[in-house]
Amino acid sequence: MATESVEASGLIRGVEEMRRWSGQRRRAGQRIGFVPTMGYLHEGHLSLVDRAREAADLVVMSIFVNPAQFGPDEDLDNYPRDLERDLSLAAERGVDVVFAPATSQMYARAQTIWVEPGALGQRLCGVSRPGHFRGVLTVVLKLFEIVQPHVAVFGRKDFQQAFLIRRMVEELAVPVEVDVAPIVREPDGLALSSRNAYLDPADRDRALSLARAIATVREAYAAGETTAASLIARGSEVLEAAGAETDYLEIVGPGDLEPVERASGDSVLLVAARVGSTRLIDNGTLGYDVEL
Ligand code: PAJ
Repeated sequence: MATESVEASGLIRGVEEMRRWSGQRRRAGQRIGFVPTMGYLHEGHLSLVDRAREAADLVVMSIFVNPAQFGPDEDLDNYPRDLERDLSLAAERGVDVVFAPATSQMYARAQTIWVEPGALGQRLCGVSRPGHFRGVLTVVLKLFEIVQPHVAVFGRKDFQQAFLIRRMVEELAVPVEVDVAPIVREPDGLALSSRNAYLDPADRDRALSLARAIATVREAYAAGETTAASLIARGSEVLEAAGAETDYLEIVGPGDLEPVERASGDSVLLVAARVGSTRLIDNGTLGYDVEL
């Protein structure tokens, strides 16, 4: 019965059913690609499906708004959700199974054992979102255990998240290959995000300042400026002029997320800012020709 409902809808809600499906496919010799999301899908999410498809025979997408990664004053209750629409977008893009568990399935009892990211989870986004990355890593590891993918695809949009997931997989010897895909943007440069749905037209304009700040810093770097403090000042001006409230703007090394004093082409500019009540993030390498 379980298998029939899978074939008909491509939707799996139960942890045990998901595990069974993956176990069967793995035993049949098929490679499983996995795209974890919190839903309210956009082209950024769907580009990850294309990547997963290239690397695997079957693609599983999870849609789960993970309470453990939201702080008490954050937008868990208001986080945009539209499962019907997500299911048709996922199906159109060729997702084989959407795993959309209830919170009671993922957290059958209150979580007491966590994956702690350590110091790297307390920097950058971790400063204003304490506990966020421990919530992310814990749910991602659980999802890996349930979906049992060969390869999982994440977006570079969440640079620190992708970095920590790679670290987790390495340090905990998790048998999953991690692939990180480029940022998908609107034609004007705004990085796609489910949270863009919160923006009114005035905030939408302000939100563009994140991408503009990155572009400005890249131009300054291309023109010969390599002092990180000066480059950061250039980016901050752009955010300030637009009325975005900077959370952080840092230039880090791609291998360790540590701030650099002198920037190089593979240095990454990471930015988080608030426009109105919406917190947005973006990033980019300083060198135009560098793909991490
Ligand atoms: P969510 O914000 O829904 O993002 C799911 C995946 O889509 C992440 O890997 C994210 O980096 C990627 N993504 C989002 N916007 C993108 C864009 N414009 N271009 C490319 N990729 C983009 O990130 C999460 O969910 C959660 O933290 C999760 C990993 C699912 C754990 O709960």
